[in-house]
Amino acid sequence: MKIINNIKELKEEIKNLKGSTGLVPTMGALHKGHESLIKRCVKENDNAIVSVFVNPIQFGINEDLDKYPRTPEDDYKLCSDNGVKIVFAPKVSEMYDDNKDDLTLICPPYSIVNILCGKSRVGHFDGVCSVVAKLFNLTKANRAYFGKKDAQQLFIIKKMVKDLNFDIEIVPCEIVRCEDNLALSSRNKYLTFDERKIALNISKSLFEACNLYKTKTATKRAIIDNSLKLMEKLDIEYIEFVDKTTFKLQDEINDNTLMLIAARTPETKTRLIDNMELCK
Ligand code: PAF
Repeated sequence: MKIINNIKELKEEIKNLKGSTGLVPTMGALHKGHESLIKRCVKENDNAIVSVFVNPIQFGINEDLDKYPRTPEDDYKLCSDNGVKIVFAPKVSEMYDDNKDDLTLICPPYSIVNILCGKSRVGHFDGVCSVVAKLFNLTKANRAYFGKKDAQQLFIIKKMVKDLNFDIEIVPCEIVRCEDNLALSSRNKYLTFDERKIALNISKSLFEACNLYKTKTATKRAIIDNSLKLMEKLDIEYIEFVDKTTFKLQDEINDNTLMLIAARTPETKTRLIDNMELCK
């Protein structure tokens, strides 16, 4: 496995690759969720590339850029153990030429970024799309793998690929959960012992919502009330329902509904997200 830090070397290496190439874009601090993406990428492509880059332009000023977990040695080992061919781990200056406040950005439409995570994380999806587009261009990957936990990110990236005619297939991958159903996230590392227990109510709300939906008598209001009760110790940012194909907010729930939650834990104020299709 090659660990490459600069763009020139990456481009040389890409020129010599034969067959199909898959990319798993990450910000490092790899966990079993990332590992499932990596395993699938290795299986489905002749060459698997993992990028490890904590992308500063997708973090707001008061967000956790500085304390975001960085575990490069463990990340490289996980990649190498899984048969990854190239890890691309550039420095910020390599990606943005020390010019990160004056970049050409890809900005998804307001209608999509003004809801859910984009509402509180202004500029976040501009940063995500811009770095992902760069990674697509640099790696010339045929496929790229993204987790469904970041559902809005996945929708926006698929839209970017379609709108801008990127020649790449986006492969959505299932959410990986701990045994107790907490969705895996690099940010789970911030949680205290007690907060972890409190955080379980996020996935519990989603599972219970699915069960309530299955009764066919529960309304959207009843599902929200149940979630509010379960998550009373969390600081809820949103409980929302979108149509999973259009990502438009729904007044009424139906078989196409994706329920999404974002909430902060009480002590460390860790922001966690999760989602589930009501009709699983
Ligand atoms: O999902 C993430 O980890 C990031 O948003 C991504 C896609 C790697 C872009 O920095």
